[in-house]
Amino acid sequence: MKAIKVGLLGIGTVGSGTFNVLRRNQAEIRGRAGRGIEITMVSRRNVALAREIVGDAAQVVADPREIIANPEIDIIVELIGGCGLARELVLEAIAAGKHVVTANKALLAVHGTEIFAAAREKGVMVAFEAAVAGGIPIIKALREGLTANRIEWLAGIINGTTNFILSEMRSKGLDFATVLKEAQRLGYAESDPTFDIEGVDAAHKATIMSAIAFGIPVQFDKAHVEGISQLQATDIKYAEQLGYRIKLLGIARRRSDVAGGGIELRVHPTLIPTQRLIANVEGAMNAVVVQADAVGTTLYYGKGAGAEPTASAVIADLVDITRLHTADPDHRVPHLAFQPDAMNNTPILPMAQVLTSFYLRLRVADEAGVLSRITTILAEHDISIDAVLQRESAEGERQTDLIILTHETQEGRMNTALAQMQALPTVLAPIVRLRKEELA
Ligand code: HSE
Repeated sequence: MKAIKVGLLGIGTVGSGTFNVLRRNQAEIRGRAGRGIEITMVSRRNVALAREIVGDAAQVVADPREIIANPEIDIIVELIGGCGLARELVLEAIAAGKHVVTANKALLAVHGTEIFAAAREKGVMVAFEAAVAGGIPIIKALREGLTANRIEWLAGIINGTTNFILSEMRSKGLDFATVLKEAQRLGYAESDPTFDIEGVDAAHKATIMSAIAFGIPVQFDKAHVEGISQLQATDIKYAEQLGYRIKLLGIARRRSDVAGGGIELRVHPTLIPTQRLIANVEGAMNAVVVQADAVGTTLYYGKGAGAEPTASAVIADLVDITRLHTADPDHRVPHLAFQPDAMNNTPILPMAQVLTSFYLRLRVADEAGVLSRITTILAEHDISIDAVLQRESAEGERQTDLIILTHETQEGRMNTALAQMQALPTVLAPIVRLRKEELA
């Protein structure tokens, strides 16, 4: 059978990885896909740079629309990124009846509903394994491997940049700004690192996983997004003394204790018990834990970025499409795991309704009755204390750090208690509040 023809819109790091891996492993890939997969066209504004990557093995054009317009091309791989031109081109490719592979998490988290509806209408596939956790086949696992299960929650380290920064802050005791600069120098963080460090990238990925796990539409606008730029080395140290590591987690959790059900969708720095496997995922690595009713807990670990790890996911999608493109669209794996008529509208809960435990650090006057006033406020809000740590005051110092770990409570209740604690004259600085998850 003749090879399936692929066009790459954009060829940079991931595109060149895809090109190289496809060429290197072509015999095995053909054996698995049932026919060859060939990149025959690539686009890049700087045509000369693209030629350096592909030589004369593929036609290089400056205008991506030339690729979409070519009737010979069966699959479009979108590697441009962002929600502007990439959205237009993906919709145009779908309208032209092409299958699409994309690594673009922002595009799917924000415009997924529109894109999947257009794809269904045209009977084409949109595959996106590379959009979440790079080389880890987490989309495949959630959508197909765990298809027998009712998924209860998932929690992932799904941004390598922030995990690298947190690992360095912990192991070297450095502050955030110093480590960020070092991460930029080493190429782990972009020159504009905002999307990574403020949790946006992780929230895009968590949004996509929540849709597949629970059969809800992608709703990035409802995700709670909090990054690590305000995190202090002091809190990493105190957390460690209490047996916890701080990780930026993307969490999606089904809640059946609220009337009509609800979904928590949140990204924030989180204390995790050090003995959990995921707490020991260090450097730029990614990992996702999934809790499901039949299989129990499963953990997926690997590289979340990079040329060949991401290419691994892109090519897996190319192979899937190659196998399935002649199948009746109704017999393919649904884009978001559930058949369109089986999707549901379980609401994403507002943050005030989220159930979690807390780490609090209070700078307090070191005098009689301070601790009791604070614990009284917590008790009045029915918030149970799990552990307390008070740093011994230095000689002559009249203030100290008080660290409190709580049991699970509702975030809204904690907000009220925090406001009251903050108003105490003996609380001398803004209270640091972090969330804690046992992931048991
Ligand atoms: N910038 C991402 C990260 C990789 O640091 O993990 C691509 O999503």
